[in-house]
Amino acid sequence: MGKRQISGFSIKEENRLRENLALVDLVIEVLDARLPVTSRNPRLRKMLGSKRRIIVLNKTDLAEQEITGYWLNFLAGEWPVLAFNAKRKADIIRMERLLESLRPRSTRFKRPFRLMVVGIPNVGKSTIINRLVQKSAARTGNTPGITRGPQWIKLRAGWDLLDTPGFLSPFLRNEQSILLLGAIGSLAPGSFDVERAAGWLVEQFLAREKTTRILLDLYSLEPEIKNCSEIIAGIGKARGCFSKGGEVDIFKTSQLILSDFRRGILGPITLERPLQ
Ligand code: G4P
Repeated sequence: MGKRQISGFSIKEENRLRENLALVDLVIEVLDARLPVTSRNPRLRKMLGSKRRIIVLNKTDLAEQEITGYWLNFLAGEWPVLAFNAKRKADIIRMERLLESLRPRSTRFKRPFRLMVVGIPNVGKSTIINRLVQKSAARTGNTPGITRGPQWIKLRAGWDLLDTPGFLSPFLRNEQSILLLGAIGSLAPGSFDVERAAGWLVEQFLAREKTTRILLDLYSLEPEIKNCSEIIAGIGKARGCFSKGGEVDIFKTSQLILSDFRRGILGPITLERPLQ
């Protein structure tokens, strides 16, 4: 793992981000509600300095409601925090209200309120941008291919959104953070150990009675199977993940478990809790 990867930014990424940050009045920082610490790049905080921002705990429909509540309390006080589901219209409306309340006076009637969405891969940045963009939205600024420079989307009168999200590489703190980020789909396939990530995830489910039951019921497993590798083998059998030799294909089964988790089929589960 190179130094650049640990810091979570390449120099090119950092420069592009810096340039774009200088153009906006407010940053929408998107985190995954299932992993609010690890899906945050701590270097960004340093880069943002005192730049106005909101923190969006996205994918709350995939997280445990009670723990999302703890996170809201934990993160409150720094910047406004929204528990969010990018697929819910009501949440987009709540976000717009919050943004309006944070609009600097200096942008009223004088110039557009300029916004940008930032976050690591797969936290829902593009979904949020698409949901914020109304049908009537028109791209302003430079014409692609003719003039270089940032593209803006006019969200509503007086609001401009940078049309590409600020992209941050994930911050790889340690081995566990690699598994966690792999599990939520923020790392490229091939850059983490799929079998270990799925194993770790299954262990999280097995750590609690309630989630153990969910796992056993979902894959129709015998209640006495409580060991992680037996569970994975059982899931492989139940879902027909066999290799050519007729054995359970653990890699394929691990991919399936991760895919079910990402799509919320395993039910809501939060992978990080705030220290209490
Ligand atoms: P990114 O730009 O940060 O990389 O993320 P993007 O918006 O592409 O979202 C990544 C995946 O997460 C997409 O699913 C998207 O639909 C899903 N997603 C975004 N926000 C939410 C949310 O609040 N709740 C849930 N449950 N899912 C969310 P996908 O399977 O990759 O694409 P698609 O099949 O949905 O188009």
